[in-house]
Amino acid sequence: MSTLTTPDAVRARAAELDAADPLAGYRERFVPMGEGRGAEAGEVLAYLDGNSLGRPLKAAGEALDRIVREAWGTRLIRSWDEQWMDLPLRLGDRVGEVALGAAPGQVVVADSTTVMIYKFLRAGLEAARTADPARRQIVVDTENFPTDRYIAEGIAAECDAELVWIEPDPATGVTVDEVREAVGPATAVVLLSHVAYKSAWIADLPGITRAVHEAGALVLWDLCHSAGVIPVDLDAHEVDLAVGCTYKYLNGGPGAPAFGYVAARHQASMRQPIQGWMGHAEPFRMGPGYEPSPGMRRFISGTPPVLGMVPLGEMVELLAEAGMPAVTAKAADLTAFVVEVAEGLLARHGVRVDSPADPARRGGHITLGHPDSRELTARLWEAGVVPDFRNPDGIRIGMSPLSTSFAEVAEGLLVLDGLLAGRG
Ligand SMILES: Cc1ncc(COP(=O)(O)O)c(C=O)c1O
Repeated sequence: MSTLTTPDAVRARAAELDAADPLAGYRERFVPMGEGRGAEAGEVLAYLDGNSLGRPLKAAGEALDRIVREAWGTRLIRSWDEQWMDLPLRLGDRVGEVALGAAPGQVVVADSTTVMIYKFLRAGLEAARTADPARRQIVVDTENFPTDRYIAEGIAAECDAELVWIEPDPATGVTVDEVREAVGPATAVVLLSHVAYKSAWIADLPGITRAVHEAGALVLWDLCHSAGVIPVDLDAHEVDLAVGCTYKYLNGGPGAPAFGYVAARHQASMRQPIQGWMGHAEPFRMGPGYEPSPGMRRFISGTPPVLGMVPLGEMVELLAEAGMPAVTAKAADLTAFVVEVAEGLLARHGVRVDSPADPARRGGHITLGHPDSRELTARLWEAGVVPDFRNPDGIRIGMSPLSTSFAEVAEGLLVLDGLLAGRG
């Protein structure tokens, strides 16, 4: 039973949690959300959407200014040789080390998540099918993010592959048993999200990866909602392929490029479908015929988005400084706090918690269920509280451990309480 049944109790608990938070000081490193003029002036009071678009670091602006003045402004095209050609791989290695549990030489930063999923799913399908022509199935789930499902559908049509759908419980997510039932001798690739974008369910990545391998297939994990917030030990669990975005918990900014991981053991046998000059073994030879570069470079297609990688570079260093274990621990405290408020103060308005009850099974956000969620979310935005609405009736409370305080979460949820109370 939650004891947080009054606004005072909620505020007092938030103050206690903020005072004990070893990461509290990191908030200062982000660009302020306003000048304290309030929601009437259009300012955000509680940003509860950091799992959709992370806030910018002050250092990101400084680094962008620096690159414009220095590497781009004065070194000009020489910067390609001096630092930019290797940037997708250098930064990929750093993302891999800090957030993914990946040894160097297996991560690249490029494209968008959507494009990267396309490239890797096609590459995986082709590799599995080349090894065994009977493997023509792609396993996906009905609760995965739309882009994952749409790409799988497109590839199935394009490559004469067959889709096998898992239909998980929307309140949780895909289980090992469901995967075991779906895979078999015809499976080529299984595409799943590590953390479910609606419920925040953490799939059993080690168990599912093992089940897929026992069936002789490959797994492609979408890490959009886990990278930078919960541990992802790709090498330790022998994951084959993974993709994720960098604008959520990696604070790369709107449209920042994605990252992609291909286990070293697969790289030589994977052919990605968008074979452009930058993935060529010798891009500047500009000769006839495509010859893939050895290693991760072959997964690059065209000119890398150098400016788009700058904020990500800053955030990865901040995560390294704070340490992923501390970030994960704070994420768990933040979600536990939301659950406590929901089960205390908000339960009397019929608010449900639509994320897993087991803290070990949920990522960095909590989805609250209420029949009027769509309208409530709109009214929260007007009041300077910014969560996300998720179909059919969820208010998604997304917190980012280095930039979100407990007081901010408390204020946001108290505004929600006020809106619900006012409806009488
Ligand atoms: C699980 C998941 N996959 C993919 C995407 C988006 O892909 P893209 O970055 O190409 O828009 C999102 C965006 O929120 C997501 O949550």
